[in-house]
Amino acid sequence: MNKVKIGVVGLGRLGHQHADNIVNHVRNAQLSAVCSVHEDELDRAKKEWGLDQCYTDYNEMLAQAGLDAVAIVSPSNLHCEQVISALEKGLHVFCEKPLGISKAECWVVEKAVAAQPKSVFMLGFMRRYDPSYTYAKKKIESGYIGRPILFRGYSVDPASAIDGAIKYAANSAGQFLDMAIHDIDLARWFLQSEPKSIYAIGGCYAHQEFTKYEDGDNVSALMQFENESMAFLLAGRTAPHGYNIETEIIGTLGQIRIGSVPQKNLVELFDAAGIRKECTYSFSERFHEAFVNEVQEFVDCILEDRKPSVSAHDGTRATIIAELATQSFKNNELIKID
Ligand SMILES: NC(=O)c1ccc[n+]([C@@H]2O[C@H](COP(=O)([O-])OP(=O)(O)OC[C@H]3O[C@@H](n4cnc5c(N)ncnc54)[C@H](O)[C@@H]3O)[C@@H](O)[C@H]2O)c1
Repeated sequence: MNKVKIGVVGLGRLGHQHADNIVNHVRNAQLSAVCSVHEDELDRAKKEWGLDQCYTDYNEMLAQAGLDAVAIVSPSNLHCEQVISALEKGLHVFCEKPLGISKAECWVVEKAVAAQPKSVFMLGFMRRYDPSYTYAKKKIESGYIGRPILFRGYSVDPASAIDGAIKYAANSAGQFLDMAIHDIDLARWFLQSEPKSIYAIGGCYAHQEFTKYEDGDNVSALMQFENESMAFLLAGRTAPHGYNIETEIIGTLGQIRIGSVPQKNLVELFDAAGIRKECTYSFSERFHEAFVNEVQEFVDCILEDRKPSVSAHDGTRATIIAELATQSFKNNELIKID
């Protein structure tokens, strides 16, 4: 196989970006087919990439498009069934986070992945493929900060994206599963341990619309891990200045911060308001390189017959922790994890 033929399901906010990356940025990959339930997105795919294999039915795409692999970028509640259908057809599968919206779903997917050892399966925890996070991981592994004792992760969406978030709230499975899951994954990755207790709080401070889904517009969680390290997470929807992703790992000998002042680039603007640096405005802008790198790794794994480091099990663990955080938030309880 010279080029991996990929079909993308879901052409929304992120699916369009993944498809475009496959066309323009990922080596040894070919965008062979796309699937969306929205005809206008398929028309755009035909025009932009000259594609003729455009489907409104996922199973038809799997049966007819002659694919080597699929990239699943559909709503989170469809991931489980779509991963399993593709694996059963012997395809390689890249799936956006979360792996599933409940631990029961994740266990089924993990079993299906294990049953197809020849297929490459990869989950889209793209921050692990962002150059700054990769660099920080290497520094920590080299012992630079000593023993890691605290992970702090802030993921706050721009206030300007609130209408979309409210529309998506019914299907998001809550802010811990939808947003904080990236920080949950990073905390496990950097601290190299699993949480043993978790306490989550939050509320609807600016947007009461989320109460009907028993969700918040800003939520946070505090965790202690089996190796005694700690993690603090904040997931929010009300950043006035842009897309605020900020990470810190504190160790016994030093600390590392990534994006402590999230900024678009190195430009400083001088005007009547003072001197400013602009912030990134969206996940697609901040993590463009990471989205390309992760799909490149997926393709390289297929061609080199090896497995990516982000496994289905990482997806299961992150979903379980997000579920427990949600339970703690809803019931105002400290949860001890077995
Ligand atoms: N890694 C990240 O930072 C990140 C960022 C955004 C979204 N995501 C994940 O990507 C996924 C998609 O999110 P989005 O914001 O792009 O969603 P979206 O609502 O913008 O797009 C959803 C897409 O799925 C398609 N779809 C819906 N039902 C379908 C079906 N039955 N069959 C085939 N296609 C169907 C729609 O036509 C649409 O193209 C979610 O799981 C989300 O968690 C990840």
